[in-house]
Amino acid sequence: MGAGKKEISRGFLMGRGLFVLLAMIAVCQTAEADQLSAQDLGKDHYLSYGCALCHGLNGDGKGIKSQQYVPPPTNFHDLKAYLHGQDKGSIRRSIMYGIKEDNSIMPAFEDIPAEEVDQMISYLQSLQKS
Ligand code: HEC
Repeated sequence: MGAGKKEISRGFLMGRGLFVLLAMIAVCQTAEADQLSAQDLGKDHYLSYGCALCHGLNGDGKGIKSQQYVPPPTNFHDLKAYLHGQDKGSIRRSIMYGIKEDNSIMPAFEDIPAEEVDQMISYLQSLQKS
């Protein structure tokens, strides 16, 4: 009798452990998918708002218009190239208000929806690691 009960509760515990494990895997996969898609969407916005004209198709600062400007458009792969801050808040400020010092041509994009700006920031920060 007692042994039977033990069997049942062990089976129950193992079942629950498996469930918790599967749930954790599912949560991790969803988080990863969300992050990927934010970066992908960010890259789409980056291209459609014309950032690539100056900052290059892959963010290396070598866009077709880049030669004309001093200071040159930022190479987003190079952490040292961020003169106005590489963290989220600073990048958001650079995009939304532009850069108005040193004859910089970096325009303000104040009409881009906040969510799209956030996705572009995810994209730019993903380049910082490469
Ligand atoms: C007309 C050319 C041009 C376009 C278009 C442009 N940028 Fe820039 N951007 C620049 C230049 C030039 C700089 C460097 C300014 C400086 O260092 O003073 C810059 C700087 C920046 C910075 C700040 C980097 C730092 O020094 O910290 C960010 C972030 C940025 N651009 C993002 C974007 C995004 C996102 C877009 C598109 C929505 C965009 N830029 C469109 C020319 C451009």
